[in-house]
Amino acid sequence: EAAEKSGYAHFMLKEIHEQPRAMASTINSRLENGLPELHLPELTDEALRGIERIHIVACGTAMHAGMVGKTAIERLTRVPTEVDIASEFRYRDPIVDKNDLVIIVSQSGETLDTLAALKLAKEKGARTLAIVNVVGSSIARAADYVMYTYAGPEIAVASTKAYSVQLAVLYVFALRLALARGTLTKEETRRYVGELDRLPQLLEGLLADTEHIKYLASLFMNCEDLFYLGRGFDYALSLEGSLKLKEISYIHSEAYAAGELKHGTISLIVDGTPVIALATQDAIFEKTISNVKETKSRGARVILFCKEGVEVPQDVADYVVKLPRYEEIFMPMLLVVPLQLFAYYMAVLRGCDVDKPRNLAKSVTVE
Ligand code: G6P
Repeated sequence: EAAEKSGYAHFMLKEIHEQPRAMASTINSRLENGLPELHLPELTDEALRGIERIHIVACGTAMHAGMVGKTAIERLTRVPTEVDIASEFRYRDPIVDKNDLVIIVSQSGETLDTLAALKLAKEKGARTLAIVNVVGSSIARAADYVMYTYAGPEIAVASTKAYSVQLAVLYVFALRLALARGTLTKEETRRYVGELDRLPQLLEGLLADTEHIKYLASLFMNCEDLFYLGRGFDYALSLEGSLKLKEISYIHSEAYAAGELKHGTISLIVDGTPVIALATQDAIFEKTISNVKETKSRGARVILFCKEGVEVPQDVADYVVKLPRYEEIFMPMLLVVPLQLFAYYMAVLRGCDVDKPRNLAKSVTVE
């Protein structure tokens, strides 16, 4: 087993470090002449133009990838997109018809609820696209179309690289859909693709120095409750950041849409409550900052993640982590890395069994 970990202390850490390569394989195989290419002959541009609504259905981390995917698809294509938890979708008689595309996301391709949701969507006449990591898995076989992610085998129960490549495929899909529907021009699409090309190198840069995140984890390791805040893409990502922490460190945490906090949850913010604030989107930066200030004035200990070059007002955060400047809509694919590392180091420092957290299974093939 030590050999399989290639010198890393845990599979999870190894898999976090494998992300630049996994992202490069997943993205590069879908770019042609600087444009996104789905390699799905039946999903022609005409078929893409005919899609009226999209449903993204999945469980766990894959569902969280869907939350980012929804934000990207709606932003780039204006196609109404919903995200559903598979176990909810399958029992609520969902409104789905033949003009809808149902995107099923699954690392293993074997999750029972997700497979059942896929079958239901087909029965209702929708076309189904599976985004799956395991080749030939049940979900891959049952879907009309498949886009594989190239994460390679993921051993750690807590998903890291599989989430990132799910995001990558969802972004590539969104770009192709936007191009087909004319909501992006070729030039605009090429610019986004150029940014995707830079991603593996930026990830390498982030992974080259993880000491700072480890240090932050050492400062927060004894907390018992924690909040993740963000808006838009940052909110979608915060769900996954929070889940990672809960899964492996057993620290309770909640991801909250920053603007929603005041409608109840802020009553939980007291002196010393840790808040992880994500603020990578320019248009809503000020809004998020003002929500963070609301927590700070109630005594929160804040770590703020934002982009290099933005001005962070004094006294809004105890610690500021700045990420490289990068295309804003793709920021979740960068910011996920420090959030994974933070969860990882918190769990390690607390002596948890990082790769095999209690009560969890890598793949859930029962209801
Ligand atoms: C399990 C795993 C999660 C995973 C979920 C969905 O609960 O512990 O990490 O996100 O199943 O798995 P899938 O293979 O469908 O992505």
